[in-house]
Amino acid sequence: MGFPNRRLRRLRKNENIRRMVRENRISVDDLIYPMFVVHGEGIKEEINSLPNNYHFSVDCLVEETKKVQDLGIPAILLFGIPQKKDPLASESYNPNGIIQQSVFKLKKQVPELLIISDVCLSGYTDHGHSGIIENGIIHNDMTVEILRKIALSHAEVGSDIIAPSAMMDGQIGAIRNILDVNNFSDVNIMGYSAKFASNLYEPFRKDGAKSNLTIGDKKTYQMDFANSNEAMREIALDIEEGADIIIVKPGMFYLDIVYRARAEFDIPIAVYNVSGEYVMINSAAQLGKINEEAVIMEVMTGFKRAGADLIITYYAKEITQYIG
Ligand code: PBG
Repeated sequence: MGFPNRRLRRLRKNENIRRMVRENRISVDDLIYPMFVVHGEGIKEEINSLPNNYHFSVDCLVEETKKVQDLGIPAILLFGIPQKKDPLASESYNPNGIIQQSVFKLKKQVPELLIISDVCLSGYTDHGHSGIIENGIIHNDMTVEILRKIALSHAEVGSDIIAPSAMMDGQIGAIRNILDVNNFSDVNIMGYSAKFASNLYEPFRKDGAKSNLTIGDKKTYQMDFANSNEAMREIALDIEEGADIIIVKPGMFYLDIVYRARAEFDIPIAVYNVSGEYVMINSAAQLGKINEEAVIMEVMTGFKRAGADLIITYYAKEITQYIG
């Protein structure tokens, strides 16, 4: 039966009917808020390349996370900026390092808020790579050994969810194993499974994590953005190795990856709306060229429509206000 009996506009005639037939909507339950922590006290410093996001010292981080919790956001994704960086990322698994101190305090003072801790070397190496460099290449298995130490040190201070983002082969299985043998079988792993070598991480690297590369690029470990079959292989392996949740990253230009992953895998999927996506929207809005709130809601709904369950976004706090 077609026109004129069938008129699809009938289901769009006013906001109430549109509300009734709306297929996807974003909930506060879907949101994960990335936050950055630095050494020191009394620090709340805006990140130049990521307007409206801040470097917090641990004390200020605790205060801010109370607000995040009050907004109903269930989880934060925590990044630390260490005092010193070296080729072996030795600060990354220091039991008294920046993440370890913060997680310990957060779990004492804001216990319900879930802490997802990024497990990677890139913020801790002086060259900015996510791995150990051996004879000019990023050495997979040596890096995985460090990742295991980082993950264990995070679990020991109470991290709820470990998020390995180094794109090393075997990292999920190796981390699952060290957590399990140390009695942390309840700690989740949220793997950055399909993480592409994207140009959209620049604001994060520049001032966010201060992890600018001094040599080369990340194309030998992060994925070629031309590939989607390979992304499915990465996800399949991470699930096999024990990931509880998988991440597709970046988000906006990678909705086909989210959509395929949704069709092929029965596992919670998070999408990372990365720093470059954030600044594209934020800058255009600052110039008065787009309506920031409207565009954000369109982007977020797009993630849900593609099949994402969770959204990691620097806009998480604003979104809680938009959805009321
Ligand atoms: C690596 C990591 C990066 C981001 C999150 N985790 C940078 C990278 O891989 O170089 C980027 C996030 C963003 O751009 O918002 N630890």
